[in-house]
Amino acid sequence: MESRVLYPGSFDPITNGHVDLIQRSLKVFGGITVAVLENPKKAALFSTKERVDMIRELFRRQANVGVKSFRGLLVDFARAEKARLVVRGLRAISDFEYELQMALMNRNLDPEIETFFMMPSVKYTFLSSNLVREVVLLGGSVDGLVPGLVAQRLREKLQASKRSKSK
Ligand code: PNS
Repeated sequence: MESRVLYPGSFDPITNGHVDLIQRSLKVFGGITVAVLENPKKAALFSTKERVDMIRELFRRQANVGVKSFRGLLVDFARAEKARLVVRGLRAISDFEYELQMALMNRNLDPEIETFFMMPSVKYTFLSSNLVREVVLLGGSVDGLVPGLVAQRLREKLQASKRSKSK
């Protein structure tokens, strides 16, 4: 089952904070569709397909979690999916300003679409995909911060980047 509630983001890569938010959302909504932004302007560590495939694999036993990628405006994708609700996570006050701007811009673009904010578990409030990428690429551990599958894919990326540098 795919749902008309969207959880959009870059997910480069998905972290345990995102997973926590998805599981929390399922206490409120019958299902959720993770919407992975395909942004040709932003260099990502994982391709859109790699990000989508990882998330699909993580939730393969949960039929109420769908995964899709999108380009362009979120509101256009939401309309195409007949979705009216967008879920976003708020980790700290520092997230608030950007999230408020985005939510109100989206409302300005399409007044029918509402943004629903949820807080992740406090143990993930310091966590971001940016920091995960940085720590891994500098050789640090992200154990407990990303699902095992993601940790494995990160290690593979690190190996690949070391191989290409040693050529
Ligand atoms: O995980 P992120 O990078 O914080 O997610 C940001 C995302 C993907 C939700 C946001 O950048 C987005 O919706 N981009 C699509 C383009 C768009 O609709 N821009 C106008 C919204 S203000």
